[in-house]
Amino acid sequence: MRNYLSFYINNELVKVDVNDSAMTLANYLRKKKSLTGTKIVCAEGDCGACTVLIKKPFEEKLPFRSINSCIAPLYLLDSCQVITVEGIEEQQELNEIQTQMINHQGSQCGYCTPGFICALAGMTEEVSIENKNITEQRIKNHTTGNLCRCTGYLPIIEAAKNIDLSKIKTFEKRYYQVAKEKLHELAKETIQIEAIEESIFMPTTLEEALIYKNTNEALINSGGTDVGVWINKRDHQAKKVLILNKIQKLYEYEDNKQFIKIGSKVTIHEAADMMESTFPEFSRKMNIFASPQIKNKGTIIGNLANGSPIGDSIPFMLVSDSILNIASVKKNRDLPLKNFYLGYKKFDLAENEIITSITIPKTNSDFKLYKVSARKDLDISSVTMAFRYQIEHGVFKDLKIAIGGVGPTVYINEDIESRFLNQPFEISIIEEMANEYLSKITPMSDLRGSAKFRKIVVKNLFCKFFDEVYLTTHSNSEACI
Ligand code: FES
Ligand code: FES
Repeated sequence: MRNYLSFYINNELVKVDVNDSAMTLANYLRKKKSLTGTKIVCAEGDCGACTVLIKKPFEEKLPFRSINSCIAPLYLLDSCQVITVEGIEEQQELNEIQTQMINHQGSQCGYCTPGFICALAGMTEEVSIENKNITEQRIKNHTTGNLCRCTGYLPIIEAAKNIDLSKIKTFEKRYYQVAKEKLHELAKETIQIEAIEESIFMPTTLEEALIYKNTNEALINSGGTDVGVWINKRDHQAKKVLILNKIQKLYEYEDNKQFIKIGSKVTIHEAADMMESTFPEFSRKMNIFASPQIKNKGTIIGNLANGSPIGDSIPFMLVSDSILNIASVKKNRDLPLKNFYLGYKKFDLAENEIITSITIPKTNSDFKLYKVSARKDLDISSVTMAFRYQIEHGVFKDLKIAIGGVGPTVYINEDIESRFLNQPFEISIIEEMANEYLSKITPMSDLRGSAKFRKIVVKNLFCKFFDEVYLTTHSNSEACI
């Protein structure tokens, strides 16, 4: 049992003062380690100025990934290795990414630049290890979570396109190979920290976690991408925090003939990658879900358990009849996700229970998933929608619909679904279906859209669904609603 946090920052093994355990990584780097290359701008995971790279011992096969350090409490980093912008230079010389940024005038005020450098270093690490090439699309994908207010993006993209990978030595070789053994040692130690403000428990087995949860009212902080914002912007403080990062079995991903099972510690990025061949529509949708930095830290289970009615993974998981696998000291149970949501942020989950994984049954049906937000990338949804459907000889043989952003929970209505089964796939039927839903949903007005706007969006998404499916089976489309 250890009573302090320890992890690597570049090649330095740090031991964190107990009362700093809940401090964000960005603050720790700047205030305690004088590593001021990492910047803080929005402090809520939206701009990427604070980007660093991390690697966890339980995800050894994965390359270093970018995360937002401004919303990462230190207790989520125990046993990890963090690479900051200071660790990117090689032998006190600018590395290839930094050199190309200078050569192509990729920086003006420079405030965003360390974040871009780290995000691009995440890209070079991935392409080097996975033997891929740098492409413009890949550059854009890796820097979606980084905002620049003055340079404009073209010089940055140009700089990235000119990176010579042969001049880059991976962090895997430079740092991880050296730290690996110690990190594995650290990962095996249970942690109990009693700080002035909070107590933190980080067990290495699920059994220990369940026993703790049975007697303690503790917040589980998984990826922390939402909790980190509460800490910075709402002065949130949990008295007791339970961290599941050291429980290896929660990182498991199972893919067999019947289903895919995703452990509660699998990040959104990894889940989307692994699900691509079975559920390509889901992986496509995840491309416009948050930034890479958020997807590298946030988990699918975290998104589901957070239970926001605009949570982007929920509609798909609902229409695919997914099942939550829940454990407690007394019993394990499987709960259909549709029964989990009881009201706004109210769940069928007892205080002593932990969600360990989600099971997604495989199906022959098709999916269409939609997300509507003020901008395409890196934005919170106004409305989300998921369709699961199968059309045989022109009639619906399977139909499931979930609509997010139109009420306290993602809206499903099994009566409407079953009424339209065996109905023809025709525009008049889709109109009827849309009107049924519109008569039932009760969206609210907020800064992401008025109730009226949300209803119009829902109607239009039914129309889009019809058009897209129609186009796959017919040579030309007919006008919609
Ligand atoms: Fe903006 Fe961290 S400071 S994402
Ligand atoms: Fe000024 Fe990007 S160079 S914000």
